[in-house]
Amino acid sequence: MSIRTTGTIAVFGATGQQGGAVIDALLEHKASVRAMVRDPQADRAQALAARDVELAAIQTDDPASLSAALMGVEAFYFMTPEANNLEEVETEIRIGTALVDAAAGARVPHVVFSSVFGADQESGVPHHDSKRAIEEHLKTSGLKASMIRSTPFMEVLAPRLEHGEIVLRLPLPEDAVLKMISVKDVGRVAALLLLGIADSPGGAVELVGDELTGPQIAATFGAHAGLPARYEALPLSVLASDLDRAMFRQFAKMAEYPTDLAAARAIEPAIKNLAEWIRFTGWTASTNVASS
Ligand SMILES: NC(=O)c1ccc[n+]([C@@H]2O[C@H](COP(=O)([O-])OP(=O)(O)OC[C@H]3O[C@@H](n4cnc5c(N)ncnc54)[C@H](OP(=O)(O)O)[C@@H]3O)[C@@H](O)[C@H]2O)c1
Repeated sequence: MSIRTTGTIAVFGATGQQGGAVIDALLEHKASVRAMVRDPQADRAQALAARDVELAAIQTDDPASLSAALMGVEAFYFMTPEANNLEEVETEIRIGTALVDAAAGARVPHVVFSSVFGADQESGVPHHDSKRAIEEHLKTSGLKASMIRSTPFMEVLAPRLEHGEIVLRLPLPEDAVLKMISVKDVGRVAALLLLGIADSPGGAVELVGDELTGPQIAATFGAHAGLPARYEALPLSVLASDLDRAMFRQFAKMAEYPTDLAAARAIEPAIKNLAEWIRFTGWTASTNVASS
């Protein structure tokens, strides 16, 4: 496959699920990749090195290490680590800000930030508003930036096989529509933007592969498995963290946010809906579903 950008592309979060998917997609395009990792000796970092990915050791509280890792790159992808409490939300903003500042200092020609669906509005969800703050910082940095705003990942759905039936439980009302995307597709869209093969109109794209209610999600897994399926809506109190409760309250209102399912597919036409993702991953009730 041919690429437009031929220079090195730096990836932060390279050993994680999103960064890993971005690197997989970049390597499929035969791009040169520099992974920014905090421990180059870690198994996951070494696995990247074995695939001819260059490793750059960084610490997010060491600006010189970030600048060195970003020097001379053609494009830069970053996400921010998961936050489970308000202190971690502050850390998330601090890391995002440090990465943007380092990219600005290194005059990186194009930055792709993996944000979150709804980051263009104040949501009251602390670990979503943090991404909004990072987007704002990126917009004022003078850098050319593309925001990819992900919805929840299909990979986190965990239906169970119970007495010959697929059961999906989420702290979400039955009639709430959950928007979702596969992590692999996040990586594919990011790679096309990083490589300059595609553009995000207006500098941001919402990543939605599908939008389904809980009963429809359960039915999609059930149809694939050839088994009956049911959905059980759980109360928000099953969630341990205030942040997650705020997030699921927000998910319950997602239907109020219009979705353009064609927007991300205009960049990557092969983006999967849930049924396609289930088939693609080879998901089966016995291998991917905890049974009881
Ligand atoms: N789960 C979902 O459905 C969903 C949907 C949309 C958006 N998101 C957002 O996605 C983000 C998480 O992405 P992910 O799932 O790819 O994360 P992940 O799999 O947990 O990976 C985290 C990555 O960040 C690196 N990292 C963490 N803290 C670091 C630090 N202080 N300095 C340097 N590197 C650090 C980790 O490196 P090490 O290997 O060294 O630990 C790892 O590479 C969160 O912001 C979350 O809100 C999640």
